[in-house]
Amino acid sequence: MIDHDVIIVGGGLAGSRAALEIVRTDPTLSVAVVAKTHPIRSHSVAAQGGIAAALKNVDPADSWEAHAFDTVKGSDYLADQDAVEILTREAADVVIDLEHMGVLFSRLPDGRIAQRAFGGHAHNRTCYAADKTGHAILHELICNLMRYGVKIYDEWYVMRLILEEGQAKGLVMYHILDGQIQVVRAKAVMFATGGYGRVFNTTSNDYASTGDGLSIAALAGLPLEDMEFVQFHPTGLYPVGVLISEAVRGEGAYLINSAGDRFMATYAPSRMELAPRDITSRAIGRELRAGRGIHSDGTAGGPFVYLDLRHMGREKIMSRIPFCWEEAHRLLGIDAVTQPMPVRPTIHYSMGGIPVNTAGQVRGSSDSLVDGLYAAGETACVSVHGANRLGSNSLLECVVYGRRTGATITQAIPTRKLPNVDESHYITEAQQQLQSLLDQPGHYRINQVRQAFQDAMTEFCGVFRNASLMETGLAQLQGFQAQYSQIYLDDKGKHWNTEIIEALELRSLMIVGQMILESALQRQESRGAHCREDYPQRDDTNFLQHTLAYYSAAGIDISYHPVTITMFEPQERKY
Ligand code: FUM
Repeated sequence: MIDHDVIIVGGGLAGSRAALEIVRTDPTLSVAVVAKTHPIRSHSVAAQGGIAAALKNVDPADSWEAHAFDTVKGSDYLADQDAVEILTREAADVVIDLEHMGVLFSRLPDGRIAQRAFGGHAHNRTCYAADKTGHAILHELICNLMRYGVKIYDEWYVMRLILEEGQAKGLVMYHILDGQIQVVRAKAVMFATGGYGRVFNTTSNDYASTGDGLSIAALAGLPLEDMEFVQFHPTGLYPVGVLISEAVRGEGAYLINSAGDRFMATYAPSRMELAPRDITSRAIGRELRAGRGIHSDGTAGGPFVYLDLRHMGREKIMSRIPFCWEEAHRLLGIDAVTQPMPVRPTIHYSMGGIPVNTAGQVRGSSDSLVDGLYAAGETACVSVHGANRLGSNSLLECVVYGRRTGATITQAIPTRKLPNVDESHYITEAQQQLQSLLDQPGHYRINQVRQAFQDAMTEFCGVFRNASLMETGLAQLQGFQAQYSQIYLDDKGKHWNTEIIEALELRSLMIVGQMILESALQRQESRGAHCREDYPQRDDTNFLQHTLAYYSAAGIDISYHPVTITMFEPQERKY
């Protein structure tokens, strides 16, 4: 058995920032990060456009209060406002702290950190490192973790949380390299495992974004909050779905339909291309439905619209958004200086997740906390994004709430002891789980089941939803779950058996998919990213509440939890 004071699952921004907070405060603590990839390959590294903070470097009229208002309005009033206040008040401090660590932010001519426009933000407050902001921040954090001697278990897959009598005691993890299974015992366990974009067939997320942390929590009997709120980023490069940053529109690009019109004038005249993502994604969806999408030969009625940068000029494109130019060039052979890019909405982000309080402690129910268990970042729901996240608030959440959670853990550790854990019980259980997967006499290929599942989630729980679509989705999901017990693995070995990992990930994807569908079906209103064509209005009387969904093999139980409103009363949301 391996012992640590703290074990953090996930090496992206939230996990790394928490680990750094702990070792910076008390370098004697034994802190470990476990991740199924190397931490610098975490999906945070792919974050492009920036991190929001009211630094006022470009716009002196900005303030944390204005940032808080934009965030709450963007959330369609579902965000918890105490959590938003913390997020926006602490933003400037965490960004300056990153700068002092050495993060290479882009600069204004006078040397201060540059700030650009972003969707739903009324002021230019997004700090950036060209369009590689996640890369710049994550590399600096990981360098710091190495400097402080944080133990990194990279390419270990966490199979389960050890949760006994309401106390988190550790983890069971599997080494992808050689098939070794280890039990880790810790005084504090933290989840920072990111999102689940791979539940759908087209996503900006990397292959590792399979919702493992969420499914591990759900299987341990913990609730997942607001899972129905799935963010579509308006500008996924068609057909691959990779991210073309909102920074491209922040720097001035247009969205154009087959008639050559800047169609956002119809949907959000005051914000145009910089409306929040839910509104912009629906606008693109409506243009496509109305036959004003574009085909590859340029004719009308096709599956994408254009993102047009041509008026911006080569110098601006190459200095502010070089990576987006490179992506379109590498993947489609398009030179965005002279050609428009084909785009359509792509799954990007999970507003919901493991419910936590503002100290990062995981909720076991609406009114209880789980002893020794913490979460932050995309996998958690604190909830600062409510029903729709504003771009550049995600990196901010990771850093603000990663730091806060690290501070909470550091304070808690001195009074905690290493728990008793029955190591052999958990090793035997994990061995049996893997062996039964290997021995299963099935005939379905993992890829076949996964693809059909992802296609169904995309078709039946997309930008536009209704009860009959989602009921069909749930019925199909039952079929995929039955097929899962008949998947066949070719590789029976222990070394680099990626089929085992794919099988475990597929189980995670399907649990998360079921939680999304059930939560979405029960929420009979339209709010933020959750657009019900059978319930087109927001319904504050019945649904100004957070969903808490509990998983069991028999089905999903749904209950509701109040929204915290401290600053801004809900209003009609117009842009
Ligand atoms: O478009 C982007 O660069 C994404 C930013 C974000 O999701 O915060």
